[in-house]
Amino acid sequence: MTVATQWWRDAVIYQIYPRSFADGDGDGIGDLAGIRRRLGHLADLGVDAIWMSPWYPSPMADAGYDVADFRDIDPVFGTLAAARALISEAHAAGIRLIVDIVPNHVSSDHPWFAAAMAAPNAPERDYFWFRPGEAAPNSWRSEFGGPAWTRTADGDWYLHLFTPEQPDLNWEHPDVRAEFESILRFWFEAGVDGIRIDSAALLLKDPALPEVPEHGPHPYHDLDGVHEIYRSWRRLADGYPDRALIGEVWLPDAERFARYLRPDELHAAFNFDFLGCAWDPALLRACIDRTLHVHAAVGAPATWVLSNHDVTRHVTRYGRSDTTFSFATKREGTPVDLELGTRRARAAALLSLSLPGAAYVYQGEELGLWEHESIPAGLRQDPMWARSGHGRDGCRVPLPWSGDEPPFGFSPTEAADPWLPQPPEWKDLTVAAQTGDPSSMLELYRTAIRLRRAEPGLRSPEMAWLDTAPGALAYTRGPGFACVVNLSGAPIPLPDHESRLLASSPLDGELLPPDTAVWLRLRT
Ligand code: NOJ
Repeated sequence: MTVATQWWRDAVIYQIYPRSFADGDGDGIGDLAGIRRRLGHLADLGVDAIWMSPWYPSPMADAGYDVADFRDIDPVFGTLAAARALISEAHAAGIRLIVDIVPNHVSSDHPWFAAAMAAPNAPERDYFWFRPGEAAPNSWRSEFGGPAWTRTADGDWYLHLFTPEQPDLNWEHPDVRAEFESILRFWFEAGVDGIRIDSAALLLKDPALPEVPEHGPHPYHDLDGVHEIYRSWRRLADGYPDRALIGEVWLPDAERFARYLRPDELHAAFNFDFLGCAWDPALLRACIDRTLHVHAAVGAPATWVLSNHDVTRHVTRYGRSDTTFSFATKREGTPVDLELGTRRARAAALLSLSLPGAAYVYQGEELGLWEHESIPAGLRQDPMWARSGHGRDGCRVPLPWSGDEPPFGFSPTEAADPWLPQPPEWKDLTVAAQTGDPSSMLELYRTAIRLRRAEPGLRSPEMAWLDTAPGALAYTRGPGFACVVNLSGAPIPLPDHESRLLASSPLDGELLPPDTAVWLRLRT
């Protein structure tokens, strides 16, 4: 009998963005062969699970978040057989695997949309939001900028909250619900351990399609009925042992966010409140308290997320004068102190890996990669860039593995250029350059993740704040462990302790310098 572990409650989950992890076949685009060859990196890092960004057949209008077939693998990445092999090789290495499901929309190449476009009276139009009219039904905006409606040659309009190549599905239709339940079963039966749910709060739309009001209920964001969908997904997931549903839920209201995590809904959701929080002791402490409070109320584990494939890498964010994140103000190209950002990112790693709950690591953050902000306009690929002038390419650059010049071991020799250019300065950030260097970001992550498993305090669900100097955060986990993070401008004394386990930067004697975190074993 399988023992239910609820592994997602305290796992370290590593996000693979398959285009940019490792290229096995030399076309300059990452693929499953590359991931399988580099699985050892993830085993050495000590992660518990991989979350795989979309790998399905796709015209790649939005880097794979435009899915044409949820039950296969895009040839640029490999085959379904290679995906099955990767799942079992990951399992053999003790690593679980989560797939990314995109239920809000499909690709315009999906057979349903192709059928819907074939004739104005095609029944498949009911799977989407088609409306007749001289003008668009309303003035909703695409999340990437520009209108959310596109007109077909026959005069109808269809809704797309992202690009026109990502038509929104109509979740009022029972066939849409049945199809996604069948897709979930397909991947659970293929042995995956969890599902990351893209744009989880957007699925339902008010069928009257009203304008977005300044105040009052939003017509497509976080509609109450969406919870019934996740209740049925939960019933389905509960039919398989130990599978997790993890929502991408961007909601400023913590109470509304927590509704997705009620005991009969999703198991976890990404903590964007933490990701967007400034490097500021009072704001971080308030964010941590809010997070723990709202999750405890529904019995769900907190998650700690610093970066992903949509946001400015946190080394860069933390090196700016304004350290928050929001899509509206990406501050691309404003001054950045990468040394300061790296120092803070090291401290943030020890913070996020020692808070109770699950921690997410976006590929390359373990190498200390920064946002590549000087990609020439002609090489940018992100549709958000074309529609809004803010792009996400800078956090999606292929990983540097070894060597002194691009492609830094990303592709085999004699390969096409990487699909996005790598900065030459990354020669110092390759996996090979950092391995064995105790002062590197990579060794910091490796040691921290190893200690996270080994230290009894770090496995305790308890956390309590300690009194400390102004401008610092200090807390215990269980009786024997403490983390102190100095966000003030001056060195601070350490609390009484038995030994130092790990520090993000060298200590100054018995003092903790600014922008430094330390893990301590306490006397018990
Ligand atoms: C959220 C994904 O993380 C992002 O990359 C994508 O563009 C949108 N959802 C649309 O699927």
